[in-house]
Amino acid sequence: PATKAMAKEMLPVVDKPLIQYAVEEAVAAGIEQVIFVTGRGKRSIEDHFDHQDGLESQLLAKGKDDLARVYREVSDMAEVIYVRQKQPLGLGHAVWCARHAVGDEPFAVILPDDLMDAEPGAIGRMKAAYEASGASQLAVEPVDPADVGSYGVIDPGPFNGETYPVRGLVEKPAPAVAPSNQSVIGRYILSPKVFDPLSKGGAGAGGEIQLTDALQALITDFGEALQAYPFTGARFDCGSKLGYLKAQIEFGLRRGEFGSELADYLRQRLTETAADNGAQPVSQR
Ligand code: G1P
Repeated sequence: PATKAMAKEMLPVVDKPLIQYAVEEAVAAGIEQVIFVTGRGKRSIEDHFDHQDGLESQLLAKGKDDLARVYREVSDMAEVIYVRQKQPLGLGHAVWCARHAVGDEPFAVILPDDLMDAEPGAIGRMKAAYEASGASQLAVEPVDPADVGSYGVIDPGPFNGETYPVRGLVEKPAPAVAPSNQSVIGRYILSPKVFDPLSKGGAGAGGEIQLTDALQALITDFGEALQAYPFTGARFDCGSKLGYLKAQIEFGLRRGEFGSELADYLRQRLTETAADNGAQPVSQR
């Protein structure tokens, strides 16, 4: 129900919407232009990154200068372009919709559901790896083999200390036929060549136009090199309720103004829960 009438990208973690974490990660990587591929019901994303002069002047009049400044910083964060995906035909199609705005340059793809917690950020590291190798980069993470069916999964070559060469990849395989458990998570740095296979528009897994299939075609039909970049920070899958709750707790705990109070509250709750269960409190194990 939370996203029935609102864009899921606008769900807040503590006090910022998921989409803002994604844009901040891009900006920290030196990316200057952000293209949002949006659809029906996503207008609030545009409003979020827009100037709201009336609101800002009201805040200034009330002496809330800090909040007015924060609001202005959000809207000045990056140059933004909005592209409308008229039908939800899949991630590959969403990327294809951005082709004119991207042009003939390498570009990053960020899926804001995957909130990545790393310093430096995932996209920044992958951009450096792209610049060093010229190979498109896919962020990967090993997942429980039972869960590979929720991801694009790579067939990795030998690890070179930083990346794996990608020999092939398959979208949402059944666990029994998955080439590995190294799963693609929501960060990519891609060569603009990917628009060639995407232009064919063939549907793949789940009847959707899959980015994974276009990436496989880059290897098979275009002889391009792809590398998988193991992500080493913490990833919160905010598309799942549990992942979203974990993100709230993690990002809440590190907030100076209430982090220690939240930690005290959690400790107390865990102690009570352990006592209720007749088990030892967590802190005494
Ligand atoms: C998409 C991609 C999939 C990738 C995943 C990461 O799937 O198609 O290859 O592993 O994002 O979050 P979705 O989550 O949109 O089903």
